[in-house]
Amino acid sequence: MASKDHLIIFDTTLRDGEQSPGAAMTREEKLRVAKALEKLRVDVIEAGFATSSPGDFAAVKSIAEAVRDSRVCSLARTLPADIERAAEALQGAAAPRIHTFIATSPIHMEYKLQMTPEQVLEQAVGAVRIARNLVEDVEFSLEDGSRTEFEFMCRVIEAVIAAGARTINIPDTVGYGEPGQYGAMIGRVIRNVPNADQAVFSVHCHNDLGLAVANSLAAVLQGARQVECTVNGLGERAGNAALEEIVMAIRTRPDVFPVETRIDTTQIVPTSRLVSTVTGFPVQPNKAVVGANAFAHESGIHQDGVLKYRETYEIMRAQDVGWNTNRIVLGKLSGRAAFTARLEALGIGFDNRADLNRAFARFKELADKKREIYDEDLQALVSDIQFGATDEHFRLISMDVASRTGRAPHAELVLSTKGHEHEVAADGDGPVDAVFKAIEKLAHSGASLQLYSVNAITTGSDSQGEVTVRLEKGGRIVNGQGADTDILAASAKAYLNALNLLESPDRVHPQRGV
Ligand code: KIV
Ligand code: ZN
Repeated sequence: MASKDHLIIFDTTLRDGEQSPGAAMTREEKLRVAKALEKLRVDVIEAGFATSSPGDFAAVKSIAEAVRDSRVCSLARTLPADIERAAEALQGAAAPRIHTFIATSPIHMEYKLQMTPEQVLEQAVGAVRIARNLVEDVEFSLEDGSRTEFEFMCRVIEAVIAAGARTINIPDTVGYGEPGQYGAMIGRVIRNVPNADQAVFSVHCHNDLGLAVANSLAAVLQGARQVECTVNGLGERAGNAALEEIVMAIRTRPDVFPVETRIDTTQIVPTSRLVSTVTGFPVQPNKAVVGANAFAHESGIHQDGVLKYRETYEIMRAQDVGWNTNRIVLGKLSGRAAFTARLEALGIGFDNRADLNRAFARFKELADKKREIYDEDLQALVSDIQFGATDEHFRLISMDVASRTGRAPHAELVLSTKGHEHEVAADGDGPVDAVFKAIEKLAHSGASLQLYSVNAITTGSDSQGEVTVRLEKGGRIVNGQGADTDILAASAKAYLNALNLLESPDRVHPQRGV
C-alpha cells in the first residue's frame, strides 16, 4: 500500500482564536494552552502576533522557550519592524517560523491597504526576504486569497517562493468560499505556479457560512498539505475550521483522504476543555467530536443498536478522542505532594511559591465543599489564581446575598481596589443583578453587559459553576470568568475579572490595515 502524505496541522488558537471578541488570554494561560497543543502533537503552534503588544510578545517568547516538540510561529505583517519583532520573540524556539501576510484581493488592496497590486507584490517579496534572513522557515499568506484574482495570485506566489517562502497559505479570510470552488482553485494554483513544488500549500478557512471544515477538506483533496485550524473552531467572527473536526474526518475516512496527521487524538477532549475554560467560550452540546452530546445516544432505538453492535450508530470511539477522562483525581485528604503532582501532569506550573500556596489553599477550601475533585476543577481553580496573579484592580473579599420570595434580592459585598477595602450594597431584579449593581456602585465602569452564562464544570449538584461575563466598553469586548461552588460568588468573580481585563492595555489587531 502506498504510504500517505503527511498533513501539517497548524494550530492558530492562540492567534486567530484569540481574535474572537473577548477571548484574550493571559501569558500564563497561553503557555498552558501551548503545552496542551504540544501534547496533542500539532505540527505548528501559531503563538501570537508578537508586535501587537508587550503582553503578546512575552507570550510568544515564553511559548518559544517552553515548547520543544512543535514548531512555534509568530504572525507578522509585511513590515520590517513586525518581522524583526517576531524573530526576536522566537529566538529561544527549537523550530521557529515567521508567518508574514498581506492582502491581495482587489477590494482589500484598494480600500484597506490603498496600495496598487505592484506595490503589494513588492512589499510581499521584500518581507519574505527579510524574514528568510532571520529564520529558515517562512510562511507567506495572501490575505483574502479566496477573493484574489487568479493571475495575480499566481504571480505573487511564484515571486514569494523565489524569495524563500516555504509555505504558501491561501486563506478564505471572510468565509466566502464554497467547497467545490475553493478546492478547485487550490488545485489550479498548485498546477499553474511554476515553482509550486518548492513549497507546501496551506489553507486557512473562516466559518462565516459554516463551511470552514468542508472548504479545508476540499482543498486537501486538491493537494493542500497544511491546514490552519483552531481548537473548538474558535476564531475571528464565526471562527476558523475546527481542528478536532479536520483531524477526525481524516482519521475516520482514510478511504477518502490521502493524508495522515500525527495528532494524539486522545488529547482532543482535554485540550478542548482547557481552551473553553481559559477563553470562557463554552462548547455547544451538539458540537461535533467535543460537544457533551457528541457520543450520547438519547433515543431508545439508537441505544439498542449501540448496545448490540457499536458500529450501528457510532463512527468514532469516545475514548479515541479523549472522552471518559473525567476521573476523580483528588479529595479532601489529598496532600500538597499529590496536588502538585496532578498539576504537573496537567502541565500547570506557577512562577512563584506564593501562587502555588494560594492555589493549594483554594484547593483545600474547595475539597471541603466538594468531595470529589476532577481535573476540570483544578483547571478552573488555577485559572482563578492566575487571573488573580495579573494586575488586579478589583478583588472580591466577601459577600452576603439575600433572596427571599416576595422581597427584592439584596447583595452586600466587600471589595478591594488598590489595597483599600470598600463595602457596597444594592438591590436587584434577581440575586445576580443585585451583585452586579453592588459592584458597579464602586466601579462606575460605564460598560454594558453583553452576555452572562453559567456552566457546570463537572457533573453532580455539588459541581463548581463556571460563570462567563462579557462586557463591552467603547467597542472593546472582554470575557471575564469566575468559578465557585456558589454561583453567586462565581458571578461576582467573573464580573470583577471582566472589569480587570477592561483595565488592562488593549493591543493592535493584525488585520486592520498596514
Ligand atoms: O484570515 C486570515 O486571512 C488570517 C491571515 C492573517 C492568515 O488570519
Ligand atoms: Zn484568519
